[in-house]
Amino acid sequence: MTTLPVTAKTDHELLASASRRARELTEPLLRDAVERLGPSLGAIGFYHFRWHSRDPAATGKAIRPTMAVLAAEAVGGEPSAALPAAAAVELVHNFSLIHDDLIDGDVLRRGQPAVWKEHGVPAAILLGDALQSEAFAILLGEGGAPAGAAVAARLAASMREVVVGQVEDIRFTELPWTGEQAVGVAEYLAMAEAKTGALLGFSASAGALLAGADAATAECFDRLGRSLGLAFQCTDDVLGIWGDPAATGKPVLGDLREGKKTLPIIAALAAEGPARERLVSLVGAEARTESDLRLAAELIEELGGREFAEREAMRHLTGVADCLASLPMPAEIRATFEALARSLIGRTR
Ligand code: IPE
Ligand code: IPE
Ligand code: MG
Repeated sequence: MTTLPVTAKTDHELLASASRRARELTEPLLRDAVERLGPSLGAIGFYHFRWHSRDPAATGKAIRPTMAVLAAEAVGGEPSAALPAAAAVELVHNFSLIHDDLIDGDVLRRGQPAVWKEHGVPAAILLGDALQSEAFAILLGEGGAPAGAAVAARLAASMREVVVGQVEDIRFTELPWTGEQAVGVAEYLAMAEAKTGALLGFSASAGALLAGADAATAECFDRLGRSLGLAFQCTDDVLGIWGDPAATGKPVLGDLREGKKTLPIIAALAAEGPARERLVSLVGAEARTESDLRLAAELIEELGGREFAEREAMRHLTGVADCLASLPMPAEIRATFEALARSLIGRTR
């Protein structure tokens, strides 16, 4: 006997539909928020969001608003219930990207020069600051949801985690590559959960709360979002070395050039043998050419660092499955969460 699939829709169709629901709801709010910044800063915001582009693939993936909307729907709410959280988290996410590129010295974001590169450091700092205030204005302003204040407090706590995670990420770059002080996998995962998982956890839990979920359900969605975030960041680290810049819109070999202690390299350095010694001398060198970076990428792969990061991403998806198993929700929403989790693993951008 064959079992019928719960939904006849493909992963792609489920995700495209959820992402469309989220984008259609949030984009008008995002545009209003950017417009409120006035013509000068507003134009730079418009540039960052790539609203001048006709190519939908050029803009952000809107994963966080999509999670918020799905969580609201999962607990029986309308997608619009999640709107304040969906818009606020996308603003905060973009604020973190604009400052992150400045911190990391990355010149490319979403396939175009990063804001600091195109418009200067002061504009990048101020635009980031402004997007952050707009996020709280949406949650706490006139016509805000009754749960707006509680959700705003949750967002503030998540942002604190993001900042602490970013501080750790930077601190790691100052630590030696080997020896007792070298960054271990557990330390890395704590940093990744903070810098990336916290906002994904916020997205899902806030979407559920705004749709009337109780605290226990919201905590379950928080865990789901954090697990997805960890899988997402492990994959991001793989893309940070082996990704195609035409797809990621980010610089090729960027993480290696910056000496970031990402998961593939941490795992590779935990291996043994001559390839490891060559890798240590390459990453520790004062000046590195493009061919050094390419060789380092090959050595990391040879030492199993890439496979480790890919497996680690998969491992965190079990956290997503556990949460989904413990929550009742419409079959199509569940299938969409599962499709979202799968898509984060195989993603190219
Ligand atoms: C990039 O996030 C930063 C990380 C947390 C790894 P996304 O990959 O979600 O960025 P956009 O919004 O789709 O550009
Ligand atoms: C991701 O930082 C987390 C934040 C932006 C807060 P990364 O430095 O790992 O992300 P990308 O690769 O630049 O997007
Ligand atoms: Mg970065």
